[in-house]
Amino acid sequence: DPEVKHADALLAWYDRHRRRLPWRALPGEAADPYRVWLSEIMLQQTTVKTVGPYFEAFVARWPDVGAMAASDVEDILKAWAGLGYYSRARNLHACARVVSETLGGRFPDDVEGLRKLPGVGAYTAAAVAAIAFGRRAAVVDGNVERVVTRLEAIETPLPQAKPLIAACVEAITPESRPGDFAQAMMDLGATICTPKRPACALCPFMARCSARQAGTQETFPRKAPK
Ligand code: ADE
Repeated sequence: DPEVKHADALLAWYDRHRRRLPWRALPGEAADPYRVWLSEIMLQQTTVKTVGPYFEAFVARWPDVGAMAASDVEDILKAWAGLGYYSRARNLHACARVVSETLGGRFPDDVEGLRKLPGVGAYTAAAVAAIAFGRRAAVVDGNVERVVTRLEAIETPLPQAKPLIAACVEAITPESRPGDFAQAMMDLGATICTPKRPACALCPFMARCSARQAGTQETFPRKAPK
């Protein structure tokens, strides 16, 4: 079963090389949906490096969704200063209120329920469902797009390739440890399968990467001419 082999190779790599990031639970520890949600909202348009200290400050000040719901939106906006895209901060507060006041303080545990929350789009819903609740959801960000277009040598340019990429990610996402799998794809894209000079010799997919076999890895993802 090729799907399972992809996942096994990647998860074994992740167990050795995962990045230690402040929002990640320790291995064997349960993920906190509030922390997963907060980090994924912050990470949408902002780099991992920038998000780190903001994430730490937010969870120190608002340790759970109830604390955030009880806060003043102006305080959240002030703490958000420097992260940009301020609608994210307004939605954060609106979402905390909905979860706290209408859902008994618990985040919905599937993609469909998560999608209904303010500020939670397809990406965030899939990420939270997979990472916080162990749901088999396909999580696709820019790093994952690069990994998959290389793995399958997808010639269709972005953005047209997005549905095909989502289908490929869906096909290789395992039933077991889907959240680790999603974060492993992101770590692989950030540290090994980089835009320039990818470190293919260190990649758990090396033997099965179509682009690598053709020597064309740096040419993916294809981009439609502007
Ligand atoms: N980018 C977005 N979400 C991420 C995560 N959970 N880990 C690493 N990079 C990410």
